[in-house]
Amino acid sequence: MQRNILITGGAGFIGSHVVRLFVNKYPNYQIYNLDELTYAGNLANLKDIEQKPNYHFIKADIIDFESILNIFREKQICGVIHLAAESHVDRSIKDPFTFAKTNVLGTLSLLQASKICWENNKDTRFYHISTDEVYGALEMNTDLFTEETKYSPHSPYSASKASSDHFVRAFYDTYELNTVISNCSNNYGPYQFPEKLIPLFINNIVNEKPLPVYGKGENVRDWLFVEDHARAIDLIFHKGQTGETYNIGGSNEWKNIDLIKELIKITDELLHRPKGYSEKLIIYVTDRAGHDLRYAIDSTKLQRELGWQPQQDFQTNLRLTVEWYLQNSDWLNNVTSGEYLNYYKTMYNEIYEN
Ligand code: NAD
Ligand code: TYD
Repeated sequence: MQRNILITGGAGFIGSHVVRLFVNKYPNYQIYNLDELTYAGNLANLKDIEQKPNYHFIKADIIDFESILNIFREKQICGVIHLAAESHVDRSIKDPFTFAKTNVLGTLSLLQASKICWENNKDTRFYHISTDEVYGALEMNTDLFTEETKYSPHSPYSASKASSDHFVRAFYDTYELNTVISNCSNNYGPYQFPEKLIPLFINNIVNEKPLPVYGKGENVRDWLFVEDHARAIDLIFHKGQTGETYNIGGSNEWKNIDLIKELIKITDELLHRPKGYSEKLIIYVTDRAGHDLRYAIDSTKLQRELGWQPQQDFQTNLRLTVEWYLQNSDWLNNVTSGEYLNYYKTMYNEIYEN
């Protein structure tokens, strides 16, 4: 079947993996990657597929409702996979307005365009990609987040994502828009912007720069390989029940400090450095404000109803990820120049003084 699908945020980390999967797997679909190319968006993430006849790039801001509506009409969009967002918690603490604008108003603008254009079309779907952070924080060694867990966001980032999730449900309840939502745990893999823990720390280990551990490094995250997330998105887009929510997670909980030591071990080994060489780079810095203690996802519903399972094991994928960053230093140098470098230097001024 032929379909015109709009993927927002396709030049970002997860979006680029989703665009690649859809372009390669569905030659009958026309894939429109809509992205504003903020600091986090990079078309170099899609070099390998940009010449494919079913791939199209549109530079646009999701907040600009008139442009979005024109794009929907002109391209006859009948499916949306919405990933565009401001995605970094530390930035949201510094600048919450940008998060409310992009994540809340931007999502509303896409929902409204879908509602207007899809009134007489039954073969449609609006798929909103969200995060486990909307559920708040768990205590150590207690329950997991399920689809029934009450929303309790703590950071401006998670509050903006929670708000956008509510708007998506409101459009299903009020206008019967064909919506589906998924809430995923922390992703890792190639093409992740090096402000997030794993690529930032790999880059700093390579360059022998400090590894700033927030607080005592005891916070826990559930890590999922980005390609497993992309496969879940494919399944949910095609087979998920309308109006439903699916949790996606790796069942792979790591205390930050243990994960950091594992990263050091793999990176040192690949760089032929002595065992434990880079542990001296670890420094403990002031904790993140409102730092959620633990995230952990129960993805039983997705496994039982749609048959999804993460492929390969964490050790294999983490090693593969470190190898990718070591082999793609041009990509890293490119994205860490300019605006990002200034931001990072301001964040860790005291660390970089020397
Ligand atoms: P990212 O920051 O790497 O990419 C975001 C993309 O959105 C960038 O390409 C950016 O240019 C684009 N964008 C930002 N503002 C825009 C605007 N106003 N208009 C159009 N495009 C805009 O993010 P990511 O890590 O790939 O996350 C993608 C989605 O997945 C987000 O919605 C995020 O909340 C969600 N998510 C991420 C994770 C994770 O671990 N990274 C986990 C669960 C859910
Ligand atoms: P991050 O990758 O920012 O993802 P999120 O905040 O969405 O979970 O951070 C993952 C964990 O690592 C989180 O507990 C915060 C911690 N962290 C550090 O200790 N130091 C850092 O420099 C960064 C970026 C994160």
